[in-house]
Amino acid sequence: MEPFSVINGFWRLVMSKVELINRRTWKNPLERRYYRAIHGYIDQGEEKAFDLALAAASGARVLDIGVGAGRTAELLAPRSRSYVGIDYTREMIDLSHRLLPELRFEVMDARNLAAFEDASFDLVVFSYNGIDSVEGEGRLQVLNEVARVLRPGGCFVFSTFNRGWNGFGTSRFSPRVTWTADPVRLAYRLTMRSMGWFRQHWYRRYEIQGEHNVILHHAHHFGIMVYATTPAQLRRQLTHAGFEARFDLFSPQGEMLDFGGETCDVEYFHVLAVRGHDQESENRHSSAPRKLDLLSSADPI
Ligand SMILES: C[S@@+](CC[C@H](N)C(=O)[O-])C[C@H]1O[C@@H](n2cnc3c(N)ncnc32)[C@H](O)[C@@H]1O
Repeated sequence: MEPFSVINGFWRLVMSKVELINRRTWKNPLERRYYRAIHGYIDQGEEKAFDLALAAASGARVLDIGVGAGRTAELLAPRSRSYVGIDYTREMIDLSHRLLPELRFEVMDARNLAAFEDASFDLVVFSYNGIDSVEGEGRLQVLNEVARVLRPGGCFVFSTFNRGWNGFGTSRFSPRVTWTADPVRLAYRLTMRSMGWFRQHWYRRYEIQGEHNVILHHAHHFGIMVYATTPAQLRRQLTHAGFEARFDLFSPQGEMLDFGGETCDVEYFHVLAVRGHDQESENRHSSAPRKLDLLSSADPI
């Protein structure tokens, strides 16, 4: 490949509007305060997926992608044989280092895990819909890299937005301002709400329709643009990357989702996928899925 096209490709990636919007949010100290303040599981679905994966990968070597301010490090490290947390936002990694100095954290982009050898982890996690801030081809790179660094039979747990959620419709879900008698806090909340209103109208022009859908989400005052998927697309992408066709989906309430269609009304799913044993054949294997409809091999990934 010509060096020029590599540089060009690099800048196109860095300059992508979606990438810039998301990175700006992760770097914003006001938004980071949120991640610093949260502890424990985000919901019952996450707890269930983590429990099942840790049981399957006993004595696990864990890679925690998009670790943020270390919420998941606190949950996973005590239950693992070795633990490493990575994030492409240096400020997040600095925060994790400060809060949990005994653990290993590295600045790294999930699209390139070259620092890790093949099959070097039993469990890989990309929690709280972090994977959805990676658009298009980048998402497929993440799945390929995760499959590569997982041992055969190892687990990948992540959560991802549901394209069929009705909050992504034309009238976009927008959280209410929570009342407080503290005038400073109230002024802050109203200002952020106004900023969210502005962003909602400005950023929607950057949404991407089509196979690799990217939608503006209300989180961080409409500061995040997310890849939103369907169970059927998930299956295509996971199998293509080398995961088994059978995977488990949990709702935020912790119910195992059992449906074959493209739609369902949860905002996001927790996914527990297992790395196939033979990557070449698993990439294309055609055994009947446990929960999802079979798709035509002509479908795009
Ligand atoms: C929604 S936050 C979740 C933080 C943490 N996992 C938690 O659950 O509290 C998503 C995190 O993923 C990180 N992230 C997004 N894309 C990434 C990528 N391509 N490589 C590494 N980290 C990424 C962001 O910097 C951010 O810290």
